[in-house]
Amino acid sequence: MQRHLISAADLTRDDAVLILDTAEEMARVADRPIKKLPTLRGRTIVNLFFEDSTRTRISFEAAEKRLSADVINFSAKGSSVSKGESLKDTAQTLEAMGVDAVVIRHGASGAPYRLANSGWIDAAVINAGDGTHQHPTQALLDAFTMRRRLIGRDAGLGQDLSGKRITVVGDVLHSRVARSNVDLLHTLGAEVTLVAPPTLVPVGVDSWPCAVSYDLDSTLPKSDAVMMLRVQRERMNAAFFPTEREYSRRYGLDGDRMARLPEHAIVMHPGPMVRGMEITAEVADSGRCTAVEQVANGVSIRMAVLYLLLGGNEPAVTHSRTEEK
Ligand code: NCD
Repeated sequence: MQRHLISAADLTRDDAVLILDTAEEMARVADRPIKKLPTLRGRTIVNLFFEDSTRTRISFEAAEKRLSADVINFSAKGSSVSKGESLKDTAQTLEAMGVDAVVIRHGASGAPYRLANSGWIDAAVINAGDGTHQHPTQALLDAFTMRRRLIGRDAGLGQDLSGKRITVVGDVLHSRVARSNVDLLHTLGAEVTLVAPPTLVPVGVDSWPCAVSYDLDSTLPKSDAVMMLRVQRERMNAAFFPTEREYSRRYGLDGDRMARLPEHAIVMHPGPMVRGMEITAEVADSGRCTAVEQVANGVSIRMAVLYLLLGGNEPAVTHSRTEEK
């Protein structure tokens, strides 16, 4: 494992499987009455959020607290960033306080890379989403959810996702979730198909390790999991499709379309969902949709990543004799 987690593309197959397996260990802690481990006692982690977030921010904070780290939350709104302070000066302020890890979300693609490689700070850097570039812990929690649902909790240990067919649908152009998933799923041996209107397919997609289709209906029956993406209006500077109705009709997932999936297939969404746009309420609330499960799995994945980047050589989880039986 490298010292930072900036991109899903930096992970080898063995790194990724180790993170997924460690997350399974961490998930067992979540099943205990006291959900806390002493692993990161005395270490300080800063959550540096320059962009809005609900799930990712709460999930990192929960993971850090479950590992007994000291947590500092920083959001750009209400800080000196709104007075014009640079990333460099913010980073040097954190360094002066002696932080061990920085979890950063930033609107600019490349900001976490800059932070990790600038020499401004000594801490481990974890990318919690940068612009349209990468969101590696999201891809890891998605892979964890797929492995559990498509292979099984115990049967999945040590396994990758070889041969699984994953369809990613929607605003691929603006999606760091799609980019991270394509990289990680490829590393894990899965076959990825992107489905999007031609205007929301990135230039250069031919060099990505995946297929592209414009026809959702014919792709669904060949999918083990379908991942729906939000249309990221906040990153759009032009009209990419005629109307919302037109978009939903061609690329939205409703009950009729969901019925085209094989019986074992799951429906995923990283959140936030825009019900009625990319997914109907019927699908979002169905037993096949793993959106809420993905959030719970996110805590285990982030615990695993923090432990592996910061944790040293101690075993992550010690199980009591009674639990082992
Ligand atoms: C995504 C993000 O922020 O990249 N959400 C998340 O982290 N769970 C996707 C989105 O905003 O649509």
